[in-house]
Amino acid sequence: MPSIDLTGKVAVVTGSGRGLGLAYAQALAAHGASVVVNDVDDAVAEAAVKSITEAGGKAVAEVVPVGTSEAADRLVGRAVEEFGRLDVLVTNAGILRDKVLWKMTDDDFDAVIATHLKGTFTCARAAAIRMREQGEGGTLILVGSPAGQRGNFGQTNYAAAKAGIAAFARTWSMELARANITVNAIVPVAATAMTETIPAFAPYIEAMKNGEPLPDFLRKGEGFGTPEDCAALVPFLASEAARSLTGQAIGIGGDKVALWSHPQEIRAAYADGGWTPESLADAFPTSVGAELQTVGIPAPKFPEA
Ligand SMILES: NC(=O)c1ccc[n+]([C@@H]2O[C@H](COP(=O)([O-])OP(=O)(O)OC[C@H]3O[C@@H](n4cnc5c(N)ncnc54)[C@H](O)[C@@H]3O)[C@@H](O)[C@H]2O)c1
Repeated sequence: MPSIDLTGKVAVVTGSGRGLGLAYAQALAAHGASVVVNDVDDAVAEAAVKSITEAGGKAVAEVVPVGTSEAADRLVGRAVEEFGRLDVLVTNAGILRDKVLWKMTDDDFDAVIATHLKGTFTCARAAAIRMREQGEGGTLILVGSPAGQRGNFGQTNYAAAKAGIAAFARTWSMELARANITVNAIVPVAATAMTETIPAFAPYIEAMKNGEPLPDFLRKGEGFGTPEDCAALVPFLASEAARSLTGQAIGIGGDKVALWSHPQEIRAAYADGGWTPESLADAFPTSVGAELQTVGIPAPKFPEA
């Protein structure tokens, strides 16, 4: 197996005080990278740094809410001040404000878009500027979600932000290819504060916290496990082994890694001189309409009792 050595590389991981971000920061540090831990929560950011340094790694905390250009500049600036450069950015910070469309307020919408979509844009832009100046390439790891890939009931703001983030990865992989900066969206699924409230998974997460392993139908079937399961993907993407891997959406969770398809036309029909409403009504059901797509995240398949 190839060895993954990130010694000398410097990473910023947003929202890395707890959950998936913490696991990404710890995995990067365990493979030799120096890490700027970021969170809005002082206490968890400091605890994250302590967990990394006590394990022999290098980390500092920069406590600031991502979203604005100022926050992005502070994060990139801290990496450069503290460790001299920036090689890896993981835009992981996130929140949920779930409500159905007709109940969602402007504040619910704006808060989620500001953290996920604008936070990803501002941090990636600041990182791309620095990496292009350094002239030695780099790695941008953006964080998508099954909700963004498929749509999800009650997640207007979050699904839109995450779909936008997958689109960022495709666009920036083209724009930054010449600078040898790879850009991928990862699509994680794991037991964290964000998911432990999902009623179907709650009893299994509770059992896991008491030291019981998650059953195979979750780890393999649903690709659902711990944050540490997802974290393996991050040092890999930051390494030489993934230098030519860019523009992809990669699912990770439990025992599973998966490649998501990108949207593309799957069927077409033609009318000489163009379509009319009447000819569409006539031909649609038996032509392109014969392959209508499903929406939503498939419900978990529980084993039969
Ligand atoms: N848990 C899952 O199964 C899952 C699935 C798909 C996508 N994701 C995504 O993974 C990321 C991490 O999720 P998680 O489950 O670990 O969540 P989490 O709630 O456990 O952790 C998120 C962290 O981000 C921090 N944070 C929130 N807003 C911030 C901001 N503006 N600036 C800096 N830090 C901020 C929080 O304080 C928290 O420590 C999110 O982008 C989430 O949407 C998670």
